[in-house]
Amino acid sequence: MPDVIYVQPDGSRRTCTNEPGRNLMKVAVENLVPGIIGECGGDLSCATCHVFVDADWTERLEPMGADEESLLDVTSEEPTEASRLCCQIILSDALDGIVVHVPETQR
Ligand code: FES
Repeated sequence: MPDVIYVQPDGSRRTCTNEPGRNLMKVAVENLVPGIIGECGGDLSCATCHVFVDADWTERLEPMGADEESLLDVTSEEPTEASRLCCQIILSDALDGIVVHVPETQR
């Protein structure tokens, strides 16, 4: 089963393993990863699942949809080119080992 690595602002890392098909917000919430709230449950209405995808992985993701892109305007931390809402990133074997950074202000 594929791994996801969540990196906190202090550099600490948590590796979570789950089945393909789960989104990265759900994996984080189920594993009590700090800083990933997922308030809307993945309905693309809260932006509390904002992450910065590690540079090694950004090219391997599916392109962002228009709804996700517009919701990045209301994240607690200023979005960057690496920003994604992790409820829209679906875990797969191709993403095994993906690294995402949790924003400092998303608490
Ligand atoms: S969980 Fe609400 S937008 Fe991702």
